[in-house]
Amino acid sequence: MKKRIMVTGGCGYIGSHTAVALIENDFEVLILDDLSNSNKEVLDRIKSITGIRPKLLEVDLKDSFLCDNMFCYNKNIDAVIHFAAHKAVSESIEKPLKYYHNNLYALINVLVAMEKYNINNFIFSSSATVYGNPDELPITEKNKTKRPFSPYGNTKRVAEEVLEDITISNKDLSAISLRYFNPIGAHDSGCLGELPNGIPNNLMPYITQTAVGIRKTLSVFGNDYPTKDGTPIRDYIHVVDLAEAHVIAVQRLLEKKQENAFETFNLGTGNGYSVLEIINAFEKVLNQKVNYTIADRRPGDVPQLYSDTSLAKTKLGWVAKRNLENMIATAWKWEQNYRQEQNLQEN
Ligand code: UFG
Repeated sequence: MKKRIMVTGGCGYIGSHTAVALIENDFEVLILDDLSNSNKEVLDRIKSITGIRPKLLEVDLKDSFLCDNMFCYNKNIDAVIHFAAHKAVSESIEKPLKYYHNNLYALINVLVAMEKYNINNFIFSSSATVYGNPDELPITEKNKTKRPFSPYGNTKRVAEEVLEDITISNKDLSAISLRYFNPIGAHDSGCLGELPNGIPNNLMPYITQTAVGIRKTLSVFGNDYPTKDGTPIRDYIHVVDLAEAHVIAVQRLLEKKQENAFETFNLGTGNGYSVLEIINAFEKVLNQKVNYTIADRRPGDVPQLYSDTSLAKTKLGWVAKRNLENMIATAWKWEQNYRQEQNLQEN
């Protein structure tokens, strides 16, 4: 029988790519999503790639009663991958309670229900933001976590602390926290990718929307950082590589290969690229200029974040396979396909 994985937030950017990877690896996927920052049509996209349309339960997990119901009426869950969370860094600074309320209530409700219904395998969608502005680079999992600059980031850090505590008290529970660096790119097919609501906060969707003509000019937030060209350095990772890491993490839990009840892994490539390097690489792949101007620094940005990925390599047997060119090419293919679909629908 297929193993059944509950994927909360499975209609979102990383969740949907993970759903594809799970289905391709013969898992059954059950998606829980409130569709607050995603769309049901993602299910058709998953079907067009895998041939299978996963079941969606539309639910707000911060409602404890509804959350309990999901577990009560959906039996035989082998593991939960928890993506469901708000993720806009700047919004979280304006509305911290919205973030603490949503991200932490949903997490706690899921964990309470898992304990009640005896489900013991949990994967958490974390972020490199838990390292704050790191003292040492590249960042290993041994780097101390620091208070992140945003309430969004702090929900990730607090969530990891919750997991650490409960895996000590509940001996049956195993949890893995995956700390993503900067996910970009899209599925090779061009049918699935990132779909930000409104004006994008993140660099890559802003670049592709500028290139496609929806945005006039990309603002580069600061060129006076202590880096090679003055713009911040990040570790960009292909979303499909990230999705594959989740499959490996699920297998690790199901096969009981964990060395500790709570484990954390960095998911990055180990390569740092500056904002200007990303723009240049994009221009090279597209063979056209991207309109940009230098603007003020964005509050909360750190100069450099890139990972040491050796732990994921040795313990999970996972390394990122896709290079920057592939990340950019797939992000661009997705942007173009999506805009073409929209135009066809409008005409
Ligand atoms: N940037 C611009 N212009 C833009 C958007 C971004 O210059 O329009 C710059 C940022 O200043 C930063 C770099 O591009 O230097 C990357 O910014 P992103 O917003 O794409 O990514 P962040 O590194 O800020 O944030 C990402 C995730 C967060 C996560 C964080 C962890 O989006 O969810 O990494 O470090 F918390």
